[in-house]
Order: sequence, then structure tokens, then C-alpha cells
Amino acid sequence: MLFKQQALLRQKLFVLGSLAIGSLLYLVARVGSLDRLQPLCPVDGQFGPRGQEEIALRALQFKRGLLHEFRKGNATKEQIRLHNLVQQLPKAIIIGVRKGGTRALLEMLNLHPAVVKASQEIHFFDNDENYAKGIEWYRKKMPFSYPHQITIEKSPAYFITEEVPERIYKMNSSIKLLIIVREPTTRAISDYTQVLEGKERKNKTYYKFEKLAIDPNTCEVNTKYKAVRTSIYTKHLERWLKYFPIEQFHIVDGDRLITEPLPELQLVEKFLNLPPRISQYNLYFNATRGFYCLRFNIVFNKCLAGSKGRIHPEVDTSVITKLRKFFHPFNQKFYQITGRTFNWP
Ligand code: A3P
Repeated sequence: MLFKQQALLRQKLFVLGSLAIGSLLYLVARVGSLDRLQPLCPVDGQFGPRGQEEIALRALQFKRGLLHEFRKGNATKEQIRLHNLVQQLPKAIIIGVRKGGTRALLEMLNLHPAVVKASQEIHFFDNDENYAKGIEWYRKKMPFSYPHQITIEKSPAYFITEEVPERIYKMNSSIKLLIIVREPTTRAISDYTQVLEGKERKNKTYYKFEKLAIDPNTCEVNTKYKAVRTSIYTKHLERWLKYFPIEQFHIVDGDRLITEPLPELQLVEKFLNLPPRISQYNLYFNATRGFYCLRFNIVFNKCLAGSKGRIHPEVDTSVITKLRKFFHPFNQKFYQITGRTFNWP
């Protein structure tokens, strides 16, 4: 009897012991992986000294959504003062191109601990009404950040709007400019798809892409169609080059950002003089979405909204061929100016 009770006790102790060791191992593994999380990584000295308090706060931001509160402008004056938070003008702007992958690029760069994104498109430089409100209005639209961090905003309309280069130059002539491009015909179809979806939502009828892209009178490419004009990258870039030297631009391959985002992001880190902090850990392929999604840490992942990655309508192959032929010389010029060559047909 006594022997049986002892055996039972030994069994219970064994189970409890195994549970305790298991939990301990789990905690060690979890802490180990937390250490590797990008948003908690300390930033190199080039961005100024960083105290313990800042690193701890960075962790809190993601855990409790504190940064979100700051961004919404809900931070108390005391919190802002205590953490030395500021609203800074952007040091880099994603100026375009619409449907090139501007949102994906901004969100992915925001994985970097030294980058803070302006969540909304601000449309300060392309919208006369906003521009008239002045630079302080623009600054107040920026998220709170630490002084060593850089703020990035994206408004793809900047790339194609006449007045924007001069206005940005007046704000900061040494600003860094990011342009993300895709194969021009695909971009034009993506642009069309977005407008089409808007029309369908409002129960409106809309023309087929072929009808808009090709002038029915001449049977040539319709250069008055905005989706076509936006894809003539070199024309727009030439306007920008009247104000900024080519060294201030970095061209991102939007097609590659879809299939292989990390190397593209590493090129941007280099261009922005940021230490390499975005890693494969931060990007995982989501088969359901068919795109890479973002992993900030063990608990916080996100994919882009469903409006990114729409299914394009079928387009007549002869129209595609015509468009590709039309864009070809402009593309050659674009490669020549930027020094970045793509395998566009
Ligand atoms: P499609 O909807 O044509 O596929 P923008 O943000 O400038 O409007 O660009 C939208 C495009 O970003 C999408 O175009 C999509 O292909 C592309 N994109 C790139 N990376 C993506 C990602 N990780 N998730 C979703 N869309 C992505």
C-alpha cells in the first residue's frame, strides 16, 4: 500500500517537474526571439545616442498601441515632453508612382526602427488648398517621433503634379525622393482597375480599358488618358530634374517588391543611410493573399488591405502589345537617366 502511494507521488512529481521545465524552456525561447525583434533593435550611433528608456518605450509602443495614440494626437503634453517626442518634417518622400506599390513600400520601410511613417496621404504639395495652409500645417500632420528617427510620407500624386517639385524644393532642397515603378502597361491597367472599382461601387457604368487606352479615331495610343500619361515615367521625372539632381532620387522596382521585397528594401535602407535592420523575419509570404505580409514581432503581423492586389481585367493582347511598343522609347530614356534598367518589354 505504502509502496503504491510512493509510486503515485513520484509520478505526480515527475509530471509537475516536466511541466515546470517545459514552461521554463518556452519562456527562454520566447525571450530569445523577442530580442531579435526589429522594432526593439537599438539603432546605430549615427542616429545619435539612445537611452534605455527609449528602447523600452519602443517596445511599449507596439505592445500597447501607444505610438498609435501619439499618431492620433492623443498623447498628453506630459508624455510628449517626457519622451522628447517631436513632429518632424519628412526627410524622405515617396512621390509616386500611383499603383507602383507606394503603400507596400511605406509600410515595409516602417518596419525599420528609425523610420516613422505618416499613415495618411497628406497631399500637401499637390493640393493648392492644403498648400495655402502653410508648412506648419504640414508638420502638424506628421506623426510623433524621436528626434533621431526619420519621418516618411507618401502621396503618389506628387510625381505627376506640375507645381510639386518646386514646392518640395522650397521646403528642403536636400530631401530624398523615392519613386517606385512597375512595368508601365501593368501599372496603367492597375490604375484603370482602381478607378473601375470605384465606379462599380457607385453603380456607374464605365468604358473598357481598351476603349480608353486607344484613340478610336487614330487607332493609336490615347496619350490624353491619364493612366497612360502617368506611365510615361521619364516625362515626369524630367520635370523633377529641373529642381533636384538625380542622386537625390532612388528608383524602387515595384514588380520586384512584390516577389522579392527584402533586396529592394535593403537598397532603400542604403539610400537613406539607415543601418540594415529590416530582415527576412519581418516579411513572410501569405499564400492566401498571394503577397508578402509584414511581421513586426511575435504577436503583431499585418497584410495590406484588400484594395492592394486587385485582380486585373483581361485586356486584349493587341492593345497590350501596342501600349508596350508605345512605352518602349520612354522606358529606354528612363533607364538612361536613372541608371536603373528593367526587363520591361
Ligand atoms: P495591384 O492592385 O494592381 O495588384 P499602390 O499602393 O501604389 O496603390 O500600389 C498598389 C500595388 O501594390 C498593388 O497593385 C500590388 O500589386 C502592389 N503590392 C506590392 N507589394 C504588395 C504587398 N505586399 N501586398 C499587397 N500589394 C502589394
